[in-house]
Parts: sequence; C-alpha cells; structure tokens
Amino acid sequence: MIVTELIEKKRDGGEMTREEIEFLVNGYVAGSVQDCQMSAWMMAVCIRGMTERETADLTAVMMDSGDKVDLSDLPGVKVDKHSTGGVGDTTTLVAAPLVAACGGTVAKMSGRGLAHSGGTLDKLESVPGVCIEQPLERFKDIVRNNGVAVIGQSADLVPADKKMYALRDVTGTVASIPLIASSIMSKKLAAGADAIVLDVKTGNGAFMETLEGSKALAREMVKLGRSLGRRTVAVITDMNRPLGMAIGNGLEMKEAVEVLTGRIPLGDPLVEVCLILGSRMLTLSGLADSVAEAREKLVDALRSGAGTRKLRAMIEALGGDPAYIDEPERLVKVKSIVPVCADRSGFIGSIDAKKLGISAALLGAGRFRKEDVIDPAVGILMNKRYGDTVKEGETLAYLYVNDDKHLDEVVRMVSEAVSVSGERPAELPLVYDVIE
Ligand code: URA
Ligand code: CA
Repeated sequence: MIVTELIEKKRDGGEMTREEIEFLVNGYVAGSVQDCQMSAWMMAVCIRGMTERETADLTAVMMDSGDKVDLSDLPGVKVDKHSTGGVGDTTTLVAAPLVAACGGTVAKMSGRGLAHSGGTLDKLESVPGVCIEQPLERFKDIVRNNGVAVIGQSADLVPADKKMYALRDVTGTVASIPLIASSIMSKKLAAGADAIVLDVKTGNGAFMETLEGSKALAREMVKLGRSLGRRTVAVITDMNRPLGMAIGNGLEMKEAVEVLTGRIPLGDPLVEVCLILGSRMLTLSGLADSVAEAREKLVDALRSGAGTRKLRAMIEALGGDPAYIDEPERLVKVKSIVPVCADRSGFIGSIDAKKLGISAALLGAGRFRKEDVIDPAVGILMNKRYGDTVKEGETLAYLYVNDDKHLDEVVRMVSEAVSVSGERPAELPLVYDVIE
C-alpha cells in the first residue's frame, strides 16, 4: 500500500478498508507514516467523515496499538465513567465513591485537564501526597479492597491516540465525530471495564457546542461500546455554565467533599448530575433495577457518609493525606482572594463557561502546554449562578490567587464571561437526552 494513495482515497470521499486503516495507524505509531501524512489524512476524515464500519475499525486498530488492561480477575461488573470535558465538573470525585459505597466496582483510568477543561487527575493531585501513577496490580488491589480507584492512564495504553491527539491539537482536526469517538472509546475499551457511562457535554464550555453534534457523538460512542461487547450508556448534559461553583483543582476537590458530606443540598445542579450519572453506573452494574431505585441508594450513601469514607480511603490508598478530606479548606490556602463585582443590577443571563475555564487556567489552575505546572490552590469560586438576581456591586465570583501576573486580564475576562441582563433568562435543562 502507498500512503499518498490512501490519503487521496479519503480526500475523494472513499471508504477505507480495515487493512488500509491498520496500515496508516500502525505505520504512524511505528514512524513509517509521517506527521504531515497523518494530519492530511485526518483533515480528509474531518471533511469527508467516516462510515460506522470505518469508525469501528479505526477504534479497534487504535485500541490494539498498545497494552490492554485485564480486569477480569476482579469480582463483579467493572464500571467506568467518562466525561468529554467540562468546566467546574467534578462529577467523578463524587459519583465514583458513591457508586462504590452502593456495592459497585469502579476502576477508572483518567486524564489530565486540557485547555479550558479540568481533569480528574489534577484534582486528585491537589491533595498532598497523592500519586496517580500506580502499578496495575496495586490499582486492582485498591479496587478490590475499596471498590473504587481512579489513577492515571499507563503510558502504553493506546499509543496511537497519544500521537494522533497531539497532532490533532495543532492541525485543526479535533472537531470530528469519528476522530473524537475513536479517540475516547479506544482508551475506554483498552482500560478494560465491562460497563461505561459517558457524560457527553453540550454547550459553550464543551468540545461539542451544538446539541445535534453532541447527540451524534453520543450515539457513535454508544454503538462503538456495544459493538465491542461493553454495556454503554451516554447522558448528554448541559455545559452552558460551570456545573458546580468551583473551577480549579483544590477548589473542586473541596466542592466534591462538600457534596459527599451533604453540605451542598439535593437539587443543586452538580449534586443532581452526580446522582444521574451514578444511577446509570449502578443500573449498568446490575445493582439496581431502575434509575429511581439507584438514586435512592446513592442518596442513602450521601446521607450516611459512606461516599465520603470511600473517597477518603481512596485518597489514602493513593498516598494522599486524608486530613485534607476531613478539612478541605486546607486545599485552597492562597495569598489573596479577589472579588469580581457586578457593574449593574439584574439577572445572570448567560455564562461563558469556556472563558471561565481559560480564566482559571490563567491563574494557574490549568495548562496551556503539556509541561505547564499547576497550582492546586488557585482558581475561581462562583458566587452567583445562571438565573440568579444580582445587585450592582455584588460579588459575581471570587478569584483565588497566588501569582498576580495575569490578574487584571482575568478580572476583565471573568466579568465579561458572566453577563448581567435586565430579564430573567430561560431555564437551562441539566440533561438533554440519554442514549441507551
Ligand atoms: N477527549 C479525547 O480523549 N479525545 C478527543 O478526541 C476529544 C476529547
Ligand atoms: Ca473533566
């Protein structure tokens, strides 16, 4: 086979065979296909699309490019959850321990934050001592003993995605449903869980901004999971605002503890989305017959403190100091807390979640390049949420600051991201659809 002919075939709208996809992807990992060739082919995929069969073959070839995790010696249904990436979205740190507290087995390999969206690993590492790189046997022992472990993906899991994603990031080829679906699902499938709950975000803070695009991506990923024998459900959730009030790693860990300890009440958007995702994890695990029954069990685990105990035990097993879970204020000690105030009275009419995510990253909560170092204590704590009334001069958000290098810019960005309008805005749904 000749690489240029394969690029031309996709450029002209042709359908690739499994062998052709293997030749390209395996050749790219091995170095015989060059960066410029892979990016030309992926751009052709962005424009021409892929059939269901091609996407399934691409996913399988990527999954087979490296090590696969075998969880079969752990008892019960192993359940994983994945978010396509949001802002102020600390659902894993709440839902995973709650599901474990209800008898579930949660074995999750997680990622780092990317651009404006946060990553669970960075949030875990806000607790001093936590080590997210663990040998596979140690990971399985934690799951066996505690019912839940979240660690970093091993370096040899889906090397094809590592290389392709890095290239997509710099060649304008991220926003393609077959490329996103194969990227996410190859990693989820290689990580070995029997059941996968996908939280597909939609809105201004998500990778997929339109509901149509998010639904198409969700359907594609559910089909891929099913076709490879995994129980898979996708929940399409709103990302036209930060889900919780906290944006930043220690702030989000603290917020997760506040949810688990009942300091944030039922009905709060973050709590509700955690319960919705957790319910799906329990029903897919066969531990509840309906989502209503699952929700009751999860609420019991919230009220009894069982979820907090699971999180605490996991942090301790990863080497972290559990005193920070008992006193989460210690996670967010900063040099200064700077309020951003409303310049008029009215309602919080719209929130640019992506801009808030970038603002938090500028304060040091996120990375713009892989090698950037995160400050776990900094970020943004919202004081108002979508639809709230606000008076001129009232605080919209508090900035948690250690380094004021970008402070003026961040103050401006946050006040632009939260717009105050004269009219009460329409309510936003939390969940748009569930793809089963
Ligand atoms: N997250 C991924 O892992 N891959 C993508 O392509 C997009 C988001
Ligand atoms: Ca996330």
